[in-house]
Amino acid sequence: MACSLMLFLAGLNRSEQTEKTSTISTKYGQLRGFYRPVAGYGLRVATYLGVPYATPPVGANRFSPTRTLSQWVGVHEALNFGPACPQRLPDTSNETAALTHMSRGRLQTLKRNLPALKRQSEDCLYLNLYVPDEGKDIIV
Ligand SMILES: *[C@@H]1O[C@H](CO)[C@@H](O)[C@H](O)[C@H]1NC(C)=O
Repeated sequence: MACSLMLFLAGLNRSEQTEKTSTISTKYGQLRGFYRPVAGYGLRVATYLGVPYATPPVGANRFSPTRTLSQWVGVHEALNFGPACPQRLPDTSNETAALTHMSRGRLQTLKRNLPALKRQSEDCLYLNLYVPDEGKDIIV
C-alpha cells in the first residue's frame, strides 16, 4: 500500500501545478484537475487527485463492504491527494539502520513523501488519475 502510494507521489510537487483542465463529467459529478508537464517528453498529463470512488468507510459504513458513491454537487476540484489509508510508516530516524532493510532510493523517496504519508485517515477511498490527453468521458 505505502509502496504504490509513493510511486504516485514520486516527483510530484504541488508548485508544478499549471493550468487547470476544463470541467469533465463523470457518473458521479463534475471534475476538474490540472495539467502537469512530463519532464523530458514535452508532454503534459491531465491530473486529477483525490477523486472519491466509494462512500467513505466511516461511521455506520466502518468494516463493511464499500458502498456506491453518491453523486456530488458542483465541481469537484481534484487538486490535492486524499488522505493515505492508516498504515505504520518505516522508521527513518536512523538512516544507517534504515539502509539495512531498504535501498537508498526508497529511503529518499520515503523521506520526500513523508508529509503526505503522515496525513492518514480511514476515509481514504480516493483515486489519483493521470490522463495522457484531456479526457472527455472518464468513467470513475
Ligand atoms: C543507528 O543505527 C546503527 C545500525 O543499526 C547503529 O549502529 C547506531 O548506533 C544507530 N545510531 C543511533 C544514533 O542510534
